Amino acid sequence: MRHIKIFDTTLRDGEQAPGCSMNLSEKLEVAKCLEKLNVDVIEAGFAIASPGDFESVKAIADTIKGCSVASLARSNMKDIDAAWNAVKGGADPRIHVFLATSPLHMQYKLKMTEDQVIETATNMVAYAAKYLSNIEFSAEDATRSDWDFLVKVVNAVVKAGARTINLPDTVGYTTPEEMRALIEYMREKVERPDLIDFSVHCHNDLGMAVANSLAGVQGGATQIECSINGLGERAGNTSLEEVVMALKTRADMYSDVATRIDTTQIARASKTVYNVIGQSAPFNKPIVGKNAFAHESGIHQHGVLANKATYEILTPESIGIVTNNIVLGKHSGKHAFETQLNSMGYTLSEEELVKAFEEFKILCDKKKTISEADLEAIVMHNSTVKAEEDPNAWKLDWFSVHTSNFTTATCTVSLKKGEEKIEAVALGAGPLDAAYNAVDSIINPPEYTFDDFKIDSVSDGTDALGDVFLKVATGGAQFTGRGLSTDIIEASINAYLNAMNKVFAAEKKAKEA
Ligand code: KIV
Ligand code: ZN
Repeated sequence: MRHIKIFDTTLRDGEQAPGCSMNLSEKLEVAKCLEKLNVDVIEAGFAIASPGDFESVKAIADTIKGCSVASLARSNMKDIDAAWNAVKGGADPRIHVFLATSPLHMQYKLKMTEDQVIETATNMVAYAAKYLSNIEFSAEDATRSDWDFLVKVVNAVVKAGARTINLPDTVGYTTPEEMRALIEYMREKVERPDLIDFSVHCHNDLGMAVANSLAGVQGGATQIECSINGLGERAGNTSLEEVVMALKTRADMYSDVATRIDTTQIARASKTVYNVIGQSAPFNKPIVGKNAFAHESGIHQHGVLANKATYEILTPESIGIVTNNIVLGKHSGKHAFETQLNSMGYTLSEEELVKAFEEFKILCDKKKTISEADLEAIVMHNSTVKAEEDPNAWKLDWFSVHTSNFTTATCTVSLKKGEEKIEAVALGAGPLDAAYNAVDSIINPPEYTFDDFKIDSVSDGTDALGDVFLKVATGGAQFTGRGLSTDIIEASINAYLNAMNKVFAAEKKAKEA
């Protein structure tokens, strides 16, 4: 059986996509999900890109011990030094060096000849080899490169120490037939194919990333680069959940290969990533979309009731969706609450459990039926809202709002920070505007703009929890905030404070540096 390595690039290619940036604690949260999934390699970022990127690659390498942690590096010594310094504390560090090999990129971007590209790639892989042996080389835009030139590049970098050769479809241009043929060609022509893991890294510009990756495997690739929910530059990368479930579900077609992914962690990892970037899965997204297992038409429902296999090729349980009929309410104890979370795939520490249980009890007083979606929202919310642990963080004490369609909205807010409590009142164009004006007059934030603001309803009904996600931009950086409550003004104030507490923490850190 050929082991297919899963190289996850959610935190690098995925995070590079507009609207997908994550802070350190969010990246760690995602990295822990990837470790639970059992991915082989986590590409944690691009260490040289910024001090923040360096810090997060390092934190992930220092924390995650169940898989290899990699940093991307361009083909220059500074990048490689930064990558090494960031990953060296990891259990199995990897440096991922890349250089473009297509005529277009060499002529217009790199302004290098073929010989210069071979020389630079070789020298830089040899430079990385002074630090470690786990080196990946990517021939950027490989699918638009000359195949015989690629053979020369691969022979040279393998001699210099590269052990994984990635052939990216950087612009999502290739087709399954071509990808398979490319890998077969390379395996036939390079000098030491036995030393190499060939890898595919496909972008989804023409919607073929998963198909191209599977074709690469059929051609002999032993590593697939992919990301949770298919996040990545432009139309994204190969989606981890789709490619892994395709290999598993069609084991008849891919009978000689297997990944080591624990597929029951897929739903949770997908939700965590969507939660962190403030998005939700499109309804019809394969594997993780709301409709992936829903059957609306009578004919389908009839078939599924008679035998699930009529219209279901994979089960919700196989990706970790467990539905049961336990009803939790205000009389439920902590043990029942914990058992329910466990059955949904969440294992919380005692401290997290106590906090989540407190929130659950508060919700029980406001809402008659508590759904799995409500429980999930509580857990997810607690895991992403960490700023409040800081004693210097602003917290909502109470607020009171008056609004109507014939007067100006007014809001009185009381905030606390440690022992200090401050009250303010403000007017606004509506209740939310009035609330934010009152908060601003207390916390005095720097100039900022809202890059995103949305309120999602966690479940159905007018008593549903409102999940507020927002992004504020200030000083060239973005800060996300979340708030959860059956009262959308309360959720919005909490989301705003969550983001602003991060702004103040970053300002403090910058002053101390
Ligand atoms: O798409 C691409 O070519 C990349 C490389 C840096 C691997 O992301
Ligand atoms: Zn890419």
